[in-house]
Amino acid sequence: MEFSIKTGSPEKLKSGCTVVGVFATRELSPSARALDKAMRGTLSALVKRGDFDGKAGSTLLLPRVDGNVFERVLLVGLGPESEFREKAYREAVRAAVAALRETAAREALLCLTELPVAGRNQAWAITQAVMVAMEVAYRFDRMKSKPDRSAPALRQLALRVSARSGADIDAALVQGVATAHGMRLAKDLGNLPPNVCTPTFLAEQAAQLARSHRLKLEVLEQRDMQRLGMGALLAVARGSRQPPKLISLSWNGGARKAPPVVLIGKGITFDTGGISLKPAAEMDEMKFDMCGAASVLGTMQAVAMMKLPLNVIGIVPATENMPGGNATRPGDIVTTMSGQTVEILNTDAEGRLILCDAMTWAERHQPAAVIDIATLTGACVIALGHVASGLYANDEELCQEVRSAGHNAWDRVWPMPLWEDYQEQLKSNFADFANIGGRPAGSVTAACYLARFARKFSWAHLDIAGTAWKSGREKGATGRPVPLLTEFLAARARARAQ
Ligand code: BES
Ligand code: MN
Ligand code: ZN
Repeated sequence: MEFSIKTGSPEKLKSGCTVVGVFATRELSPSARALDKAMRGTLSALVKRGDFDGKAGSTLLLPRVDGNVFERVLLVGLGPESEFREKAYREAVRAAVAALRETAAREALLCLTELPVAGRNQAWAITQAVMVAMEVAYRFDRMKSKPDRSAPALRQLALRVSARSGADIDAALVQGVATAHGMRLAKDLGNLPPNVCTPTFLAEQAAQLARSHRLKLEVLEQRDMQRLGMGALLAVARGSRQPPKLISLSWNGGARKAPPVVLIGKGITFDTGGISLKPAAEMDEMKFDMCGAASVLGTMQAVAMMKLPLNVIGIVPATENMPGGNATRPGDIVTTMSGQTVEILNTDAEGRLILCDAMTWAERHQPAAVIDIATLTGACVIALGHVASGLYANDEELCQEVRSAGHNAWDRVWPMPLWEDYQEQLKSNFADFANIGGRPAGSVTAACYLARFARKFSWAHLDIAGTAWKSGREKGATGRPVPLLTEFLAARARARAQ
């Protein structure tokens, strides 16, 4: 889908379908009023009759009939005006694009982007509209023997704003498009089955990104990991026939010596639990255990599309977590690249084992900040559900920066404690510490484990176990937190430009 920005009065803009909002109950939005005037009261009469009441999520298509000067008009219910906030705005755009895809219109004019959302500006509305529209259009059918060929006609979506407030509207469009493409890549990688999306496949995808978007690629092989002493990452890979990979992609958009932001994504392409085997129910969803990695690759693509004036490095430790005769046993003790020893009491707590060596590996870049992204704990799903990702940080300023990026991108996170008191749960009688801390505060103790490898930089950790994918009928990757990460980096670039 292609996007553009339009100003001008809605009744004068030619379009295959003009989309306007109606509040509950029966109050026309400004664009709807302008259309109503041009149609000599058709819309207000229709609403008065009770044929459309503006209920949130409802739509009504008015095709061209005698007297209708427009090709098509789509009415979209906005719900009560007093409740029209971020969620209602996004749902209205979602309903509009879904309805447009049922029509034969090739291009449409969306006038919902002009509606005021409390605390938000037009730039926000533009970025969100692009992301939501691309989300509605997303399909994953490449593994079907007969993909559905009946593609909707809709190709172009023009977004109307009341007045072009300058460069920030254009930048908002660029960021929306880049983010949406990054999310699409992250979803595709997440949705691919684990027999296709292996560590080697992820490395190939990174190589393709490097070629198409002028990124620099480096891939460490198992023997390199051995040489570097990455005992924790290697311990997870032991049970698998698939060779592990440590992938690094760099975008050098900033000054040559400017310290980079490093993103590290958990890339477990399938998590069986290892010898601490998981129960069978829903184990298929552990193909999504590389969604942190996918979000890093998606964000690197977005950064390159936006050509941000920053240095950014994406690091992906990738391996399967499998049982087998050579697999790591509960009780095994390994030495991490940092030199600290870990007693692996549960082989299912593998995410932190691959991340800790990737974090030590990141030290060589002397990063401005490190953010790791991981489907790390079931406990985080219990704490925050599927709305917010868990946020941990060893730097208050970075914590606020990530939080506001999440709020601005509507890809929200909630801060969790990293207090020393929790570290006691990781005590081991035999090694420096253990890789699990028992049932209480499982998401916190996982983060506390990682904090022991973040002493040399400013660091934030996102536990995305509840937000990276959906289960049930809508099973599939969400592309989160690509919006947060892209906004975090774009905001840093904007601050630099001032
Ligand atoms: N990938 C899982 C976390 C997970 C589980 C995310 C279910 C989403 C849904 C992770 O590797 C894991 O297995 N964590 C364990 C840790 C425990 C053994 C300390 C967990 O959360 O149960
Ligand atoms: Mn696990
Ligand atoms: Zn896992």
